[in-house]
Amino acid sequence: MPVRALLHYALEVPDQSVGEKFYRTFGLVDQPARDEAVHLRPGTLGRACTLLYGGPRKRLHHLAFGAPGDEYEAVRESIRQAGVREADPPPGAPDGGMWIRDPDGHHVNVRPEGSQDPPADPPLATNSPGHIQRQVVRGSPDRHAQVAPRKLGHVLLFTPDVDRQVDFYTRVLGLKLSDRVKSIIAFTRCTTDHHNLAFLASKGPGFHHASFQVGSVDEIAVGAARMHEAGWQKGWGLGRHVIGSNYFHYTRDPWGSFAEYYHDLDFIPEECAWVPRDFPEEDSLYVWGPPLPPEFVENTELT
Ligand SMILES: [Fe+2]
Repeated sequence: MPVRALLHYALEVPDQSVGEKFYRTFGLVDQPARDEAVHLRPGTLGRACTLLYGGPRKRLHHLAFGAPGDEYEAVRESIRQAGVREADPPPGAPDGGMWIRDPDGHHVNVRPEGSQDPPADPPLATNSPGHIQRQVVRGSPDRHAQVAPRKLGHVLLFTPDVDRQVDFYTRVLGLKLSDRVKSIIAFTRCTTDHHNLAFLASKGPGFHHASFQVGSVDEIAVGAARMHEAGWQKGWGLGRHVIGSNYFHYTRDPWGSFAEYYHDLDFIPEECAWVPRDFPEEDSLYVWGPPLPPEFVENTELT
């Protein structure tokens, strides 16, 4: 029985206030909390998706998944049957749920909660050949409009063993493999999103990026420009991925990992004939966009 939601990710960072400023500029809002972590959430959701703990250097503190109702005990049984022992939570972790460690040593929290969907946007009104959806209305976006991530979509982790991570998360927590490139990168899901957790090969574990859904390509670009103006000038995009198909822009965070805006990700219903594909390495990363900056694939936690 699978988990049904990626609820939040928590990082340990050397300066929580710098991290808070970064993510607030990115468009998240503070969520008051009683523990020592900074909690941030999308403006329309009531639950934090990004937690920042103090620590000597940036690293993943934990990941949290949701399994609502009866599925919570079913996940516990799946964990037991897989021979995985429940673990103690990391220091300062939120109360509730059960804890395990993944093969890379990351703490994973499974909580008896379901996903929260953001309110629907009005339909996009675009004009394309043969399909006029906007008449007598100017379409150019307001460059001062609010950039508001709607939800946390996915997290990408570095790992020394992509296959071992895919095996663990599919067998123990029930995520499904969506697509992969050999043992270089793999994308798994626990919702209808193409991916919620992905793994990229490296010499060791690490946090690569978290990705947030926004309402349009314009909103990606306006958000990216705003991050740039605020001094967060390194990153990658605007572009379009091959795997997952989403438009993307990544801004480098204060610790050398990234925060991504995405729009128009592939949707995979629970019951459907989706067949995971093993993509050729040379045609797997992006269809168009600026050249890949070398630091994009650098695991800064190794040094
Ligand atoms: Fe991503």
